Amino acid sequence: MSSTPRDLQDLDSVTSLDQLYGVFEDLSVEGGWHRPAGPALWPEPRKTLLPHVWRYGELKRVLDVAGRLVDHTQADRRNITLTNPADGNVYPTVRTMVAAYQLIKPGEQALAHHHTPAALRIILEGEGTYTVVEGDRVEMRPGDVLLTPSWTWHEHSAAEDADDCYWVDILDVPLVHLLEPMFFERYPDGLQPNPRDVEQSPIAFRWTDSVARLAAGTDAPEHGMAEREIELTDADGGPAMPTIALHVQRSSAGFASPTIRTTANSLYTVVEGSGEAVVDGETLRWERGDIIAVPAWRPYSFTVHEDAYLVRASDEPVYGALGLLRTEKL
Ligand SMILES: [Fe+2]
Repeated sequence: MSSTPRDLQDLDSVTSLDQLYGVFEDLSVEGGWHRPAGPALWPEPRKTLLPHVWRYGELKRVLDVAGRLVDHTQADRRNITLTNPADGNVYPTVRTMVAAYQLIKPGEQALAHHHTPAALRIILEGEGTYTVVEGDRVEMRPGDVLLTPSWTWHEHSAAEDADDCYWVDILDVPLVHLLEPMFFERYPDGLQPNPRDVEQSPIAFRWTDSVARLAAGTDAPEHGMAEREIELTDADGGPAMPTIALHVQRSSAGFASPTIRTTANSLYTVVEGSGEAVVDGETLRWERGDIIAVPAWRPYSFTVHEDAYLVRASDEPVYGALGLLRTEKL
């Protein structure tokens, strides 16, 4: 405003708050009592992103159309990102993670690259597709969970006689966007040379192993959100990756969980079975291949209709490391 002093010598002439706010604007500061956007602190986490379920049955058909229209040279990008439907949101599925369904067709290759965001894949359908991570070539089979930790070289390829291969990608890209250390680089020669075929790898959690561990386990999972739960850990028993923890849950038809809420965000992928989740009062029905977004601090519970296996990807390690993880049973 015209009456705003343009240098500090003129501050003595400021006689009204409006004039003072003009000074604030000139100096790029704001009064703690005068925040146009409201207070900076509030009593508990706000509801920003929404609970939602994405249906594999629908989105697989959409992916098949993309498979007809999007050339195989773009196969590393033939995916459908699950954008949380909250107003104004353009990318994340939950606050720190993004999920996508992806299709690779027989004979296709996604060229090698690496990036600072960490990624994982949960295979839904199809055999004959391989991932190569840091030179180790691993076949991807339904139910397997495969990691691409931050900055590891990785590529995917499907044999000529492979099935159409559908999987779920989950990455911590929204967290890296927030923190800003985004780096991405393509491998200089397209594909990693002389990959080693391996059956066992620290980056591969085989479905058969997960099922066997769940059958052998007897511990009741924390908070009782499933009948059985195992964690897919790194070699030291810690979270699978620094920013994403992975758990596999098994529950029988008729199981009903208590209601909890937590400051962490979760993405549940349904590997088998069906049921419903009640998230903040909204009933979300789910079945094989569906992905359920449970944003932070939304009370939620599960009821199982058909014997179910769910993979839960959560950002608990981030909140735990920062002292911000709180979970309550309601
Ligand atoms: Fe990648």
